[in-house]
Amino acid sequence: MNAPHNTALPATRAPGFSGQAVVEAKDLKRVYEIRRGFMRAPDHLQAVGGVSFTVHAGKTLAVVGESGCGKSTLARMVSLIETPTGGQLRIKGVDAVNAPPDERMKLRKAVQLVFQNPYGSLNPRKKIGAILEAPLEINTALTATERAAKARAMLAMVGLRPEHYHRYPHMFSGGQRQRIAIARALMLNPTLVVADEPVSALDVSIQAQVLNLLADLQQSMGLAYLFISHDLGVVRHIAHDVLVMYLGHTVEQGEKGALFAQPLHPYTQALLASTPGLAGSTGVKQRIVLKGELPSPLNPPTGCVFSTRCPHVTERCRAERPKLREVAERQVACHYAENFIIA
Ligand SMILES: Nc1ncnc2c1ncn2[C@@H]1O[C@H](COP(=O)(O)OP(=O)(O)O)[C@@H](O)[C@H]1O
Ligand SMILES: [Mg+2]
Repeated sequence: MNAPHNTALPATRAPGFSGQAVVEAKDLKRVYEIRRGFMRAPDHLQAVGGVSFTVHAGKTLAVVGESGCGKSTLARMVSLIETPTGGQLRIKGVDAVNAPPDERMKLRKAVQLVFQNPYGSLNPRKKIGAILEAPLEINTALTATERAAKARAMLAMVGLRPEHYHRYPHMFSGGQRQRIAIARALMLNPTLVVADEPVSALDVSIQAQVLNLLADLQQSMGLAYLFISHDLGVVRHIAHDVLVMYLGHTVEQGEKGALFAQPLHPYTQALLASTPGLAGSTGVKQRIVLKGELPSPLNPPTGCVFSTRCPHVTERCRAERPKLREVAERQVACHYAENFIIA
């Protein structure tokens, strides 16, 4: 069942780009029930409160926000590990939430995950060759010789050496282990790679190498990336589009160049201002220091989700939640976004 392209979905892509939409999410939501006692009614925690985006083949959408804002929940929904409690999700044009089991199985193979911590995600008792070949064993009819050839070719693609085939995960550095995790994710030729903080555990110099590798692989394989990070500095080079999340909601979303040059949401401005190496080079007029704690998603502010920490907050912000709307070639959820446009 190949559904037609849904034109109602907002396009977060550069003008003039005409790649195929690999993922289309519309108003995606995830609510968790929290039980605190046998006799008490459950609380409802909205981890993702309605997020929409499109990712095209060969392009990267970066999702950025502080810890707890719902990034990993979003990653699990797009990877079909967790079912959304609301909204729509199309992968390769197929309704991924309501697809029959065999169709979902196919989509699962098309979407592969890379996690922050390669130490935890690689089986310590298996050699690298076996780790890379496992997905082929389960999902393809390739012979052992063919599987080994594919694993060796993939090792070369991620910048590892042939002799690494016979080694165990503990014999590698953090950066090399993340290369192995990337190699494993690519064994089934996915269309989309969901990378959840893939370089956050690595030293800065190693981060750059892994980011370069991801960019090269995207070019050569035409991969789409959903790249998740709490760090705008990390996404600056790899992203085409950026989606900034706060307490489960999109506060700003658009093409990277416009968003970095002139962030229009006070939260994006604060994130940029607090990122080393970015503060001076971007369109942030003044340094904004985020005050106060991130509110609990169990008890979010009534108006704007950012109102308790925003330096520009007004009564209207506390009373009325701003809708995500188009301002200066991107989407912003701020009543006063126009005020931040630098003429
Ligand atoms: N399985 C779960 N059950 C209950 N709450 C959850 C669950 N997973 C995540 N949460 C909550 O949802 C919110 C978003 O979490 P998460 O998606 O992990 O954020 P991030 O990856 O941005 O740090 C947090 O408040 C977290 O505690
Ligand atoms: Mg996370």
